[in-house]
Amino acid sequence: MAKRIQFSRTGGPEVLEYVDVESQAPGAGEVRVRNQAVGLNFIDIYFRTGLYPVSSLPSGLGTEGAGFVDAVGEGVTHLKQGDRVAYAQGPLGAYAEYHTLPAGKVVTLPDGIEFETAAGCMLKGLTVQYLLRQTYPLKGGETILFHAAAGGVGSIACQWARELGVKLIGTVSSKEKAELAEKNGAWATIDYTKENVVERVRELTNGEMCDVVYDSVGKDTWETSLDCLKKRGLMVSFGNASGAVENVNIGILNQKGSLYVTRPSLNGYADTRERLETMCNDLFGMLESGKIKVDIANRYSLAEAAKAQEAVAARKTTGSTILIP
Ligand SMILES: NC(=O)c1ccc[n+]([C@@H]2O[C@H](COP(=O)([O-])OP(=O)(O)OC[C@H]3O[C@@H](n4cnc5c(N)ncnc54)[C@H](OP(=O)(O)O)[C@@H]3O)[C@@H](O)[C@H]2O)c1
Repeated sequence: MAKRIQFSRTGGPEVLEYVDVESQAPGAGEVRVRNQAVGLNFIDIYFRTGLYPVSSLPSGLGTEGAGFVDAVGEGVTHLKQGDRVAYAQGPLGAYAEYHTLPAGKVVTLPDGIEFETAAGCMLKGLTVQYLLRQTYPLKGGETILFHAAAGGVGSIACQWARELGVKLIGTVSSKEKAELAEKNGAWATIDYTKENVVERVRELTNGEMCDVVYDSVGKDTWETSLDCLKKRGLMVSFGNASGAVENVNIGILNQKGSLYVTRPSLNGYADTRERLETMCNDLFGMLESGKIKVDIANRYSLAEAAKAQEAVAARKTTGSTILIP
């Protein structure tokens, strides 16, 4: 028997149960990973609350982790028992001591990268990789607005943008978060609890506004974000921390300056083994060279997953949050 977190109905953090289950033997093309650290992501909250549907209940939760390969299914050639690995995609169920998933989603972890670091950045760091290097291939010299700049994804984005020579303006909800984002490389920050975001962007850019806005807040910031763009700028809506953006009148893109908009996800970019490996090589290179440091600011035991999710949803955390089985 092994421990895992599951939920039998959607709702608040109280629906999460810490239970004993039979750990699943890997089928053909699968591996079982003995997790050493598990990543907690905002998307886990969307599944728990029912914003994103799950295929059946009770359901496991979480898609990110790092550990040792514990068992290998038929036909798997690139991994063997004992390998150090990490993953960021696949079926829900990473909040567990053991997680069985398709081997194609699992990559070998370079020796220099610790399990906790990997669990804190596989999903968030690969997201930043595609946002800054693929959705809009930043060259350096651009000005971008990045919401939740002191959070898990945001902390990595600040460092990566600095490395690319991009002026990242980060939104945050407190002075402490502003300091952290600036320490990580944000060119400027805006505390949206005290300042008008559009006006501050106008001041900071001398009226030029931004080439790209990366918005993971969703409902509350959609229109503000559009107002922060230059003509023909790109709006990247990649999350729903405040709720989903709904009922968009496409004409608004015309009114606000012939804007572009995209709603991307990691699964839409790391959709083949080759692309996943290329993206991991880019991320691992940034980690191994020390250009990006993952701030594991919040560590909880696996049993405390509900408490950990409560803290993230309440905007109490900065950096990455991990669970230790
Ligand atoms: N599409 C993708 O591929 C993809 C992949 C990974 C993550 N994401 C999205 O990226 C975002 C960040 O993920 P994360 O795991 O790193 O979380 P996080 O940034 O550590 O936490 C969310 C942050 O969002 C801000 N926020 C603003 N309004 C909020 C609200 N109403 N409720 C809660 N938080 C609010 C808070 O920062 P302030 O206090 O500074 O406002 C909070 O700390 C999430 O929206 C997530 O869904 C998308």
